[in-house]
This record gives sequence, C-alpha cells and structure tokens, in this order.
Amino acid sequence: MGFEHTSVMSQEVHEHQNLKPGNISVDCTLGGAGHALATIKAILPDGFLIGIDQDLEAIDHAEKTLQPFKENVRLFHNNFSDLPEILNANGIKGVNSILLDLGFSLNQLKNGNRGFSFNKNEPLDMRMDIRNDLTAFEIINSFQEDELINIFFKFGEEKFSRRIAKRIVETRRDTPIHTSSELAQIITKAIPAKFVYGQRIHPATRTFQALRIAVNRELERLETFMEIVPSLLLKGGRLCVISFHSLEDRIVKQALRKFEGGCTCPKNLPICLCGFVPQMKSIFRKPLIPTKEEIALNPMARSSKLRVAQKV
Ligand SMILES: C[S@@+](CC[C@H](N)C(=O)[O-])C[C@H]1O[C@@H](n2cnc3c(N)ncnc32)[C@H](O)[C@@H]1O
Repeated sequence: MGFEHTSVMSQEVHEHQNLKPGNISVDCTLGGAGHALATIKAILPDGFLIGIDQDLEAIDHAEKTLQPFKENVRLFHNNFSDLPEILNANGIKGVNSILLDLGFSLNQLKNGNRGFSFNKNEPLDMRMDIRNDLTAFEIINSFQEDELINIFFKFGEEKFSRRIAKRIVETRRDTPIHTSSELAQIITKAIPAKFVYGQRIHPATRTFQALRIAVNRELERLETFMEIVPSLLLKGGRLCVISFHSLEDRIVKQALRKFEGGCTCPKNLPICLCGFVPQMKSIFRKPLIPTKEEIALNPMARSSKLRVAQKV
C-alpha cells in the first residue's frame, strides 16, 4: 500500500508555525506525515515532536517516515481530543505549536478499503479509528429515517436530505446496503436529474461527507479540542488549523473569536468590567487559502483554509 504525500499548504504552515530549534511541537493529524517531517526538521537538534493520529495505518506509516528522528519523536494512536492527557502523562506543561490538518487523508480515500470514496466499491465502514463501534453500515442500515435526514442536512448541508433518506429506507427494506458504490447509486437516483448531471461535484459528495463526520464524531471532537486549546500552548505558541469545509472552519473561527474578544460587558460601557482576558490572537483576520499553483498540482487542496493564532 503506497502512502502519498499530500500535505496541503505546506509552505504557509511551515512559515506560520514559527518553529525554532528546541521547540516542542504537536502534529495532531499525522496522515502521510508530510507536515510532521517538515516540523521535526525545523525543531532539531533538541526539539521534540508529538504525533497523533486515530488511524493506525497513519501511525505505522509515520513511524517509518520519522524513523531517522526517532529520539525526538513520540507517536500516539489516539484522538487529538486526548492531547491534554498525553501531555500530562509525559510531563509536558505546554507546547510551542499545534497543527490540525482536518478531515481524511488521501491514503484513507484511495487505499483505506473503508468506503470513504463513492467511486469505489468498498464496505461501508468509514471509521478512521477501527477500535470504535459505530460504522457507516450501521447508520445507513439501522438509523431511523429522521435521524438520517438530520445527519445528511446537518453535516453535509445536503438539500435533498429527505429524498435521499427516504430512498435509503425503501431500499434497505428489501436488502441491507453493503457498499459505497451501492450507496452512491441510491443517492444519485434520489436526486432530481437536473441536479445530478453537469454539476461540479458528484451527487453523493455531501452525503458521504456527512456520514464520515457522523461516524467519526468529527465536529464534536474538534469543538472539544478548540475549547481547551489555549491551555495546551505556551505563551507565544502557535495554533495552525487547516479545515476543508465551512462546518469545520466555523467551529475554529468561533472558538478563536471567543478567546480573542469574549468580553461580555454591554457595548456602552467605557471599560471592561467582566474581567475578560484575551487568550489567543489570530495572526490573520481572514483564513489563508492555497495558491492557484497548489490547487492545480493537488485538487484536494481546493477547499482548504488555514487559520493561525497565537497564545497571548
Ligand atoms: C488531511 S490528513 C493529514 C495529512 C497530513 N498533515 C500530511 O501532511 O500528510 C488527516 C489525518 O487526520 C486524522 N484525523 C482526523 N481527525 C482526527 C482526530 N480527531 N484525532 C486524530 N486523528 C485525526 C485522519 O485519520 C487522517 O490521517
């Protein structure tokens, strides 16, 4: 199985992580370990990298890629929401940089054999961490129609959620839906033809995104993490988050806004009386987006956005 390097916005991440030799850095989403490799090189000789991924295949791959630096690296097969416990257990009080490169990796899409892609005929699984119980198969074949509608609408912003859920429930009455391509066909049939042909994206894109988010509880984990992020960083430490859709970016944006300016005093008060102390400062008001050149080379970068903030 070949892992491909697909690190998105590498140049920008590298520049804005502001890394120095001796730093302690966390890569919360190792994936193909492209960002991790650039990070470790920037913090040597005495820096330390903590690498996390909930997918064991990513950890195995990162172990090989980062082997030459093994004295300065520790890898954890965990969810990044476990980072406080990981730091605690290793006696680390705070870190200089944290990177979150959200979503799934090209390896999971192409070689995962877990039904992430609507272009493949694979078992409907979609778990990034195969230790978890909930699979896409279970959601598709046993959740109530209303629950399906809710998932497709909330996590996929799919305007045909009702039609898709109805068609799934009708189909599974006869026989369970086992594979990604069966599901993709059902979705395509449920959507009116004029919204299927000549569209920029495959008609199953949003439903597949929604399912993946639901299976991996992606937004919940991100929210939990963003709530505690200032407590994990040292003063001046940097957070870089690459998101791939508006639901993720909204969570990051709102959390940063709260840490930057969460004063709850009435607007007409001349001074702050609620005692709010800013904890983070965004480096850019708007997120950075990839260059046209990067998108041409790697179309998966198309929808990515990078937010950078510093602990104050
Ligand atoms: C876009 S890829 C990361 C690519 C990587 N930065 C690189 O340079 O190749 C996302 C990775 O994050 C992992 N991941 C997503 N959400 C996670 C979470 N909540 N906790 C741990 N790992 C997560 C996925 O398993 C996947 O391997």
